[in-house]
Amino acid sequence: MNCSCNGYKPSMKFSKDVEFAYAEALKIRAHSHSPYSRFAVGAALKLRDNPRAVGGCNVENASFGATICAERVALHAAVAQEGSINPEFIVVVTGEEDATVPCALCLQTLAEFCADDFKIYLGNTQTLLKSYSLRDLLPYPFRHFSQDKK
Ligand code: THU
Repeated sequence: MNCSCNGYKPSMKFSKDVEFAYAEALKIRAHSHSPYSRFAVGAALKLRDNPRAVGGCNVENASFGATICAERVALHAAVAQEGSINPEFIVVVTGEEDATVPCALCLQTLAEFCADDFKIYLGNTQTLLKSYSLRDLLPYPFRHFSQDKK
């Protein structure tokens, strides 16, 4: 596959869709507003009926609690743009050497829209590293009593 974004060389270990979403997450990570933590995160959410992934980055605030994570920015942007969504997977990229797992708030937010087997791909600025299913990371999400079982 020819993916020249940021000089990243695809490993062939992951699908073409995942590699493209990785490139999008890497690109949008550069938009991160993280002057307080200096921890920039990029995310790209792939929807089943849409060839391109919806990107998001973390946006911090001087009032720290107003900060929003990259995963939730991507997810909420997808809902705002598409109305109802059918998420396929998400790619999350940080500047860390090891894979960084999404925080519990983001996992709970993903659980609102995504099935248990929804895949979460984790990478750094060099490469994609590993993947988990949503159920691996959040086996017991909170569900409102009126929500259908997924
Ligand atoms: N952050 C994310 O964007 N995603 C996560 O899953 C965890 C943390 C952001 C929030 C904050 O801007 C910075 O990383 C440090 O916590």
